Amino acid sequence: RIKPAVLCGGTGTRLWPLSRKSFPKQFSDIVGGESLFQACARRLKDAGMDAPLVLTNSDFRFIVTEQLMSVGIDPGAVLIEPAPRNTAPAVLAAALYAMQDDEDALVLVVPSDHVIADAKAFGAAVEAGRVAAEAGQIVTFGITPGYPETGYGYLELENKPDGSGDPIDLRRFVEKPDLATAEGMVKSGTFLWNAGIFLFSAKVILAAYEAHAPDMLALVKAAIEDAEADLGFLRLAAEPWEKCEDLSVDYAVMEKAGNLSVVPYSSHWSDLGSWKAVLDESDQDENGVALCGPATAIDCKDVLLRSESEGLELVGIGLENIMVVAMPDAVLVADKDRAQDVGRVVKELKTKG
Ligand code: GDD
Ligand code: MG
Repeated sequence: RIKPAVLCGGTGTRLWPLSRKSFPKQFSDIVGGESLFQACARRLKDAGMDAPLVLTNSDFRFIVTEQLMSVGIDPGAVLIEPAPRNTAPAVLAAALYAMQDDEDALVLVVPSDHVIADAKAFGAAVEAGRVAAEAGQIVTFGITPGYPETGYGYLELENKPDGSGDPIDLRRFVEKPDLATAEGMVKSGTFLWNAGIFLFSAKVILAAYEAHAPDMLALVKAAIEDAEADLGFLRLAAEPWEKCEDLSVDYAVMEKAGNLSVVPYSSHWSDLGSWKAVLDESDQDENGVALCGPATAIDCKDVLLRSESEGLELVGIGLENIMVVAMPDAVLVADKDRAQDVGRVVKELKTKG
C-alpha cells in the first residue's frame, strides 16, 4: 500500500494578512468551506489511502489533530519538526519513518495547501505512477502551464504527453526560474509545472539523498532514531535536526536526481500561491468580482473584496484590478498584478519590528 505523507509546516507569506506565522494558509478556509489541509486529508481518504503521516511543527500540532477530527478522520502519526528547515529534511523524515515498518514502502508526499477538486482523478494519477515508482523512479506530477509563473518548478519532458496519462521520463527539473526563462519554457510546449507532489519508494529517495545531500541524510536519520513520543506526537530530536540545511526538496534532490518520471495531470489544480490565484478560484460575477464575507461591490471590475471579520463591512466603489483583504487587525489593498509581491509585506513588517 502507498503511505501518504502530508507536508504541513510552511507559513505561506504571499497570502498575508490571512496567512500568518501562527496560523498559515493550509489551516484556513480559503475556498470551499473547509481548510486546505482538511480538504487534502479528505482527498487522500476518498482516494482509498491510509490515514496520512503529517509533518508539521510544534505550533501547529493541535490544529492538525483538531482539524482532522472535526472532519471525521483519525489522525495517523504526526511528526514534529523542532525547527522549520523547509521541505528537504521533512520529505526525508517521511521516507525514513515509513521504512520503519516496511522496508519497501512507497511514499506519496503531498503539500497541504493545494486545491485539487477531483479526488478520483487524483487517485488515478497516483495509481498511474505506481509501477514507475516500484521500478525505482521518483514520480512527479505535471500540470500544463497556464502562464510563466516564477514561483513553481518546471518539468522538461523527454516526449510530449500522448494523452494516456502514463509516466514520461524527465529530462530536466528547473526550480523557480526567472521570468525570461519561465516565458521560454512555457512557449516551448515541452515543460509542465511541478505540482509539488511526489511518489517514490523510500529506499530510492534515500539513495538520492545519499548521492546529493549525504549530510542531511545522516542528520535526519539521527533525528528519527532519537525521536521522542510526546502526547501522541513524535518529536524529532532537535540537535541533529537543527543542523540540517534549510532547503527545499526541489533544490536539494529533484533538480539533481536522474531518475525522475512525470505523470501528466490534467484535472483541476491550483496551489493558491497568491491572492490572484485565490481570486481565480473564487465564485465571480460577470464582471470578475469575487466577494467573501460581509462585502459589497458597486461598479467594480476584476476585484476581490474579502472581509474576514463578521463585523467589518467592506465596500468597493469603481475599483478595477484591485484586491482587498480585511482582517480585524490588518488590511491588504493591492493591485491584482502585484499579487506575487505580497510576500514582501512580511519582510517589511519584520524590519519595522
Ligand atoms: N513539514 C514541513 N516543514 N512542511 C513544510 C515546510 C517545513 O519546513 N516548509 C514548507 N512546507 C510545506 C508547505 O506547507 C506546503 O504544503 C509544501 O510544504 C510546499 O512548500 P511551499 O513553500 O509551499 O513550496 P512552493 O510552493 O514554494 O514550491 C513547491 O510547490 C510548487 C507547487 O505548488 C515546489 O515543489 C515547486 O516546484 C512547485 O511548483
Ligand atoms: Mg506552495
